Amino acid sequence: MKKDFLSILDITKTELGEILSDAERLKRQKRAGVPHELLRGMSLAMIFEKSSTRTHISFEVGMHELGGHALFLNAKDLQIGRGEEIRDTARVTSRYVSGVMIRAYRHGTIEELAEYATIPVINGLSDREHPCQLLADILTIREHFGDVRDLSVAWIGDGNNVCTSLVLSSALTGMAVTVASPKGYGVDPGTLERARKLGGNVRTVATPEEAVKDAHVIVTDTWVSMGDEKEREKRLAAFHQYTVNDQLLRKAAPDARVLHCLPAHRGEEITGDVLDGPQSLVWDEAENRLHAQKALLVKLLKKQ
Ligand code: CP
Ligand code: NVA
Repeated sequence: MKKDFLSILDITKTELGEILSDAERLKRQKRAGVPHELLRGMSLAMIFEKSSTRTHISFEVGMHELGGHALFLNAKDLQIGRGEEIRDTARVTSRYVSGVMIRAYRHGTIEELAEYATIPVINGLSDREHPCQLLADILTIREHFGDVRDLSVAWIGDGNNVCTSLVLSSALTGMAVTVASPKGYGVDPGTLERARKLGGNVRTVATPEEAVKDAHVIVTDTWVSMGDEKEREKRLAAFHQYTVNDQLLRKAAPDARVLHCLPAHRGEEITGDVLDGPQSLVWDEAENRLHAQKALLVKLLKKQ
């Protein structure tokens, strides 16, 4: 049976543990120059409906380092851009490559692709989730703090795709996740309920100050996600008290660290001082996309 990765909850706690350990090993091997061509001869199709820097580069380089090949496919240049059905693209792609990574506007597009593809499908970001980002974030937290279980994470800002994957991941990691968002921009209540049902320790609070109190990790993201551009002015007004700045950071645990999936907007969701400062782990976080996804690709594509 092929396995897809559309949501962070498509893997179990055990599988997450394996992916993290494999990612750490692959990272050491890359640094030491030890070849690890575990996917030799395999190809990954990468379909993008939206822009990308990290996801595109890390998947493409990841496949290369694993001895395989990745194809960058702009959705506009494929026949789906002219109306070919997703299900037909899924069936045909399955005859050529070993896996598909897709970044799409609608989560439903990725679900349909996964339903009709006979090869693993990976969500490279949708309007609902960004599970690959969470693999890298958890890897980064574990690398810095060691055991993640007793840590508290504060999410400041939009209850968006990355926030949803973070909240759900609490059920896998045991980390406590506290979300502070402006009214009308909070994480979906169904997501909180789902995380709690599966044992996640998640809550929402009214202010960023409350959220960061005693937090070990502070996470934020853009106030205007891809697809939300028309609401930019309205969003900037709604979020103006949700900037992760020095003052807010001082209210967290003294050794707290900051994550941001990037791209960042200095002076909006995060100040330059914090993003470029000593408590920021964002560059390790960006690098870890590569190692975490290589481990994921091996898990999903390698024939046992
Ligand atoms: N964090 C992230 O997914 O970045 P890109 O949009 O550049 O891929
Ligand atoms: N929430 C952002 C993440 C970008 C990587 C977006 O969807 O645009």
